[in-house]
Amino acid sequence: MNVLHSSVAPMRTAGPSTAAIAEASRPSISVIGLGYVGAVSMACLSHLGFRMVGVDVSAERVRTIKEGRSPIVEDRLGDLLGEGVQNGLVSATQNLVAAVLETDVTFMSVGTPTASDGGCDLKYVRQAARGIGLALAMKSAYHVVVLRCSVPPGTTLDVVVPEIEKASGRKLGKDFGVCFNPEFLREGVAVADFFAPPKTVIGASDARAEAVVSRIYTAIDEKLIFTSIAAAEMVKYVDNVWHATKVAFANEVGRLCKALDIDSHDVMNIFVKDLKLNLSPYYLKPGFAFGGSCLPKEVRAVAHIAEREGVELPLVASLMATNRCHIALAADMLRAHQGKRIGFLGLTFKANTDDLRESPTLDLMATLEAEGFEIAAYDPNLDFGPLLLSQIDYVRNAVPRQARLMDRLQAITLKDGHDLVERSDVLVVSHATDEFRRLVRGRGKHVHVVDLVRLFKDPPVEDTYQGIAW
Ligand SMILES: NC(=O)c1ccc[n+]([C@@H]2O[C@H](COP(=O)([O-])OP(=O)(O)OC[C@H]3O[C@@H](n4cnc5c(N)ncnc54)[C@H](O)[C@@H]3O)[C@@H](O)[C@H]2O)c1
Repeated sequence: MNVLHSSVAPMRTAGPSTAAIAEASRPSISVIGLGYVGAVSMACLSHLGFRMVGVDVSAERVRTIKEGRSPIVEDRLGDLLGEGVQNGLVSATQNLVAAVLETDVTFMSVGTPTASDGGCDLKYVRQAARGIGLALAMKSAYHVVVLRCSVPPGTTLDVVVPEIEKASGRKLGKDFGVCFNPEFLREGVAVADFFAPPKTVIGASDARAEAVVSRIYTAIDEKLIFTSIAAAEMVKYVDNVWHATKVAFANEVGRLCKALDIDSHDVMNIFVKDLKLNLSPYYLKPGFAFGGSCLPKEVRAVAHIAEREGVELPLVASLMATNRCHIALAADMLRAHQGKRIGFLGLTFKANTDDLRESPTLDLMATLEAEGFEIAAYDPNLDFGPLLLSQIDYVRNAVPRQARLMDRLQAITLKDGHDLVERSDVLVVSHATDEFRRLVRGRGKHVHVVDLVRLFKDPPVEDTYQGIAW
């Protein structure tokens, strides 16, 4: 899958100014696949004045739409389709080639069911792409193909485009453009969501295709989000995995609360009121493992209560395991630098605290030290006075695998960050602070960086720089 070359475009958003381009001409749009997604797009875009031609292999679906009726149960859908048929903006056919030929843009919303191996079955996507290709072979005007199905990242450029090019003999960029424009509507309120979408994301093969699709959406969303095709494909999957995570999490809370005779809705009503830490971007950017004096301790405590009560909480039970995976990944990245001097910028579990308890960085250091790596560190938060020494004592006793590291911690921790940079071949950064940004920027050209915290919004494109999860 050629995902990488398409995943470098940074996210951009369009403000109200894009409305300017929105206007003038309205492209006519064919929609392949008249199910939950396609039928709603047909109805809502016709309501906005677009001429829509629907295509489906199902004669029944085509007939229903032609009669101005909804093929599915969905609030307001029948009314809008009826309106569209009456005013001549909605038509439907089983002839895919004819539909593409008489339109400027084609939305593809065929099904992408689970394959027998658990992956995504792309057979309908391939069939539809081949059909589009056959039409484009007969068309000289530029055409834009917009994939709206949920598909694995890479599908648009590595499956859909080659199928179209092969069947048409046309070239991406010159003869046609492609966009991935994920669908975020909720069944049951899909029409309302269409006119007030949670977001509109467009990944385009080129500026021309992007402008065409932007024009379609500016009437309903002035803050379009532009990104690479692969990122747009991935966003859809990540959204749904997140929603599934939320449901599973809430249900685990419910099962545990019930066993403890606590009203789960009381608990979650309070939980959702916290828009600062609970329902917010906080804790949702890839970085290093969680640690500190609270999170690991409380995850273990909740898992323990569940076990005592005989309640199964697989999601909660998996949290420490996924955290360990992340620390193991960092260790693997550093094992590639065997024999080099490793310097750690940041020791405490997060920036701006002197709390060493359950710091994942200490875990990583202990692993490497046990394997014979030469390690040193710098952390501006650490002052080796009586308080810190007693904390080191605590860690020495509480975490036997870090005992040897605790014995040497003061000796290997330098007082000056520049000294550490001078004496290191590889820097491991675990706090995103301005001081560390300056130190990393000022390092010698030969010094490698393993960034655990995304120090820079746009990570440097350098052979010596590696991020843990970007
Ligand atoms: N249902 C949702 O709420 C929702 C939301 C977001 C994204 N999606 C994604 O959108 C896509 C479509 O989902 P859906 O629920 O609308 O599917 P659906 O099964 O309801 O509809 C798909 C339609 O495509 C038709 N079709 C299949 N192959 C065709 C072909 N070659 N030519 C013409 N028509 C063809 C089928 O007959 C069917 O009517 C999927 O990838 C899905 O994951 C669905």
